[in-house]
Amino acid sequence: MKLTIEHLQKSFKDKIAVNDVSFTLEEGIHALLGANGSGKTTLMRMICGIMKADQGIVKMDDIAILQNYKEYTKSLGYLPQNAGFYMDFNIESFLRYIGVLKCLKKDYCEQKIDELLTRLNLQDVRKKKLKHLSGGMMQRVGIAQALLNHPKILILDEPSAGLDPKERIALRQLLSHVGKDTIVILSTHIVSDVESIADDIMLMKQGQILFKKPLPDILQGMSEKVYEINGNEQAIRAFEQDYTIVNRKTDGNIITIRLLSDHKPCAQAIEKEPNLDDVYLSYFREENAYVETDLL
Ligand SMILES: Nc1ncnc2c1ncn2[C@@H]1O[C@H](COP(=O)(O)OP(=O)(O)OP(=O)(O)O)[C@@H](O)[C@H]1O
Ligand SMILES: [Mg+2]
Repeated sequence: MKLTIEHLQKSFKDKIAVNDVSFTLEEGIHALLGANGSGKTTLMRMICGIMKADQGIVKMDDIAILQNYKEYTKSLGYLPQNAGFYMDFNIESFLRYIGVLKCLKKDYCEQKIDELLTRLNLQDVRKKKLKHLSGGMMQRVGIAQALLNHPKILILDEPSAGLDPKERIALRQLLSHVGKDTIVILSTHIVSDVESIADDIMLMKQGQILFKKPLPDILQGMSEKVYEINGNEQAIRAFEQDYTIVNRKTDGNIITIRLLSDHKPCAQAIEKEPNLDDVYLSYFREENAYVETDLL
């Protein structure tokens, strides 16, 4: 199976939200990583066919999705960002309702609901009304509804928003299982969500995909660009003015900083192995980006 995006473009008044985006995806996990406002949600909506592109086309196996939209939606699972659901349903009746909307057979649906509630750790609360759920539970219900029809294409807009570290790990495990026979696109601005599971990473900035590469290739491009320096407050402050700082640790009077530089910044600087946080900051340094790292 193949999902092809060709020259997608979308503007809101004079703001270009998605700017001439093209790529082809096969089964696997594809992470769309980008700062707030970079165009991830707009791109995903067009891939789902719920937002009309100004220009460009989305094809599944070489057929335009809008030409055969009913068939396409049968293959599609979608978790919108900040999804608003029917809050008076309880979890299982909400999922049954989605099953009806997706025209799923009753037996299949019951079995799948059971499986997903177990996998997403929601069995104990299956009778709870949505309006009484925590943010993380709601998010897991959203993920369950997206997976209900065993989609061939799964689009998850910020699936880990609101999940605690344990649930984020569980989500990663679920997705790496699903990604074996599904095209998964997930958006995030949390680097640690995608570092271990994404087959490739698409970095989106100001409406454009800057690159689409597997993590090892991305990291290779950052070699000899990450350094660590120890020093007192005064010495370190000078480096902080001149370089992009990825991390800062204080131990008594000694401060250790991790910074990005095209050259060795001083004789005692120690070269470090780059990670995805370093890459992210190197592209988003001017946007006051901060890096959320996993607490575990
Ligand atoms: N319906 C809309 N009307 C006007 N502008 C919009 C609309 N939707 C998105 N935009 C603008 O398009 C740009 C891209 O927004 P989008 O929501 O796609 O970004 P994003 O990467 O998903 O951001 P976030 O990480 O905050 O979810 C932003 O500048 C946003 O303000
Ligand atoms: Mg978004």
